[in-house]
Amino acid sequence: MAKVDTTYVCAECGATFYRWSGKCPNCQQWDSLQEVRATAERRDRLRGAGAVASPLSIAEVRADREVRVPTDIPEFDRVLGGGVLLGSTILLGGDPGIGKSTILLQALGKLAARGVRCLYVSCEESLGQVKMRADRLGLGGSPLAVAAEGSLDNILALTGAEGLQVAGVDSIQRVNAEGIDSPPGSLRQVNTCATALTEACKAAGCALFLVGHVTKQGLIAGPRALEHLVDTVLYFESERFQSLRILRAEKNRFGAVNEIGVFEMGPDGLQEVRNPSELFLAERDTSASGSVVTATMEGSRALLVEIQALVGPGSYGTPERKVSGMDYRRFSMMLSVLERQAGLELGRCDAFVNVAGGVRVFEPAADLPLVLALASSFRNRPFFSDGVAVGEVGLGGEVRAVSRIEERLKEARKLGFERAVVPTGNAKAASRLIGQVHAVRNLHEATRLLA
Ligand code: TYD
Ligand code: MG
Repeated sequence: MAKVDTTYVCAECGATFYRWSGKCPNCQQWDSLQEVRATAERRDRLRGAGAVASPLSIAEVRADREVRVPTDIPEFDRVLGGGVLLGSTILLGGDPGIGKSTILLQALGKLAARGVRCLYVSCEESLGQVKMRADRLGLGGSPLAVAAEGSLDNILALTGAEGLQVAGVDSIQRVNAEGIDSPPGSLRQVNTCATALTEACKAAGCALFLVGHVTKQGLIAGPRALEHLVDTVLYFESERFQSLRILRAEKNRFGAVNEIGVFEMGPDGLQEVRNPSELFLAERDTSASGSVVTATMEGSRALLVEIQALVGPGSYGTPERKVSGMDYRRFSMMLSVLERQAGLELGRCDAFVNVAGGVRVFEPAADLPLVLALASSFRNRPFFSDGVAVGEVGLGGEVRAVSRIEERLKEARKLGFERAVVPTGNAKAASRLIGQVHAVRNLHEATRLLA
């Protein structure tokens, strides 16, 4: 058998190789491969040494008991899948300054106030700074235990305390494992520290939050490497210069992925936004052309968002195209389909698309509203001000049914929409939910509604 003692892990993309090279064969980054030596234990495992547990039939296996503790911040609890699951590990990622420490402190503070035994370990800020933040968040008198500590061994001693139920380590990039000759934040350090902490907390049945800063390349340092170690990955997103913060579950072994929680950063911390649809549509100009409202599914919840398009005659050369909040390739495809199947001459036009409020909409059900927004701007004809549109568009210009039409249209009704443009396949269900339904089979029929 080949001797596999040393592997090389790319610090950029996390890919593993058995041979060193100057440039990562996967992501093409120069000088990013780092040597990882197998530990004695792993070497033994590779050689098949040690006692091997004999497999059991699944009927004999006892399931773990699931204990969830709600933080009483419903937006946060929903993203987690219904509160913090004891024994699970959660990575809380996002750009520096977006609010990771704030939400963690708020959540732990709430839990501690209800008698849950919690510990917040700050590796970046002094206890005095943590206290200042806590005061600002109204947690000054909280029974939450806090510690300022950066050494892995010391943090393990703290999290190993008898009866601890929820621990937060802020941030994993600042934890230092002695005996590793690379600095905190390097791939080896982050990996070693995260592995040790998750294993210890799992064994003790304690939930663990690890805060991770997203680096310039948009990856969590110890890149992606951490995602497979943990049960749940939450990312904070925001539009720059906006106070709105969206917390998204990108992975969840114990809940729905793509579940989002919406918050607003205020002077006393992150406040929940109870009705995000209302907020996303707040500044909409209902008479403008190029604007179409759609109902998109984010995890278990329907959200109304406004898709805005601006199409204008291009100047010289290659037309300019920009998209924010949607997939560029899908957008290009929709432009071609619109040109070919609905006869709109968009080839030389500049086209810009934006999802208002900084939300990202990546599901195919947003095809139809996107196409309608483009056509509406191109023809300078506004879409129904009291209408929403949902539907997937195929390459032949056919409009296909979407899932969960009930939830989508219920949310539209709730916000006062009276009309819906839907695929024929959804028409029957739609007519039970909303006053006026325009069922469309293809782009021809859809764009005719803008006449
Ligand atoms: P923070 O939670 O420290 O971000 P992270 O841990 O992700 O780096 O949030 C820092 C930002 O939030 C900072 O710009 C100040 C702002 N902030 C408020 O606006 N209100 C508050 O109550 C708090 C605590 C922070
Ligand atoms: Mg922080």
